[in-house]
Amino acid sequence: MSYEQVKASYDRCYKSGDFFGTFYDSFLAKSPEVAAKFANTDFKKQKPLIKASVNMMIRLGTGDIKAREAIEKVGTTHSKPQLNIEPKLYDLWFESLCETAAKHDSEWNEELESMWKERMQEGVKIITERY
Ligand code: HEM
Repeated sequence: MSYEQVKASYDRCYKSGDFFGTFYDSFLAKSPEVAAKFANTDFKKQKPLIKASVNMMIRLGTGDIKAREAIEKVGTTHSKPQLNIEPKLYDLWFESLCETAAKHDSEWNEELESMWKERMQEGVKIITERY
């Protein structure tokens, strides 16, 4: 079960420094569409929110009801009528997450990357189904 390994990887990531600083640098550089969405964002506020929600993404699949509810909420805020985040942008999001983890997790390898992918899939599905 990949939960423990991914959780440990995530712990290493954010203990290593400004993980979500590196993440947003990478993500905003992926496409002008992404950068435009975050044009007015206060990243001091955004970073703790994304940190907590990635934790919830990892917990999905452990049967954690609160995690599911939190991710369903992200699905609502990211839907077409609200933030209007097109489903294709989640591939870029995941690419940036892996690039960032590769820099911040000293134990990063291909096996961990596929475990992360497996753990993120359910959450991305929940969110994009609500688009
Ligand atoms: C699974 C992936 C993602 C997760 C877990 C996530 C999570 C969050 C959370 C927790 C917030 C805070 C507000 C809220 O609760 O809705 C947020 C805000 C936001 N997210 Fe995401 N997000 C994801 C993917 C994306 C993608 C692909 C984009 C594309 C550009 C995006 C753009 C935004 C924007 C524009 C905001 C508002 C920022 C502001 O307040 O200015 N998110 N996200």
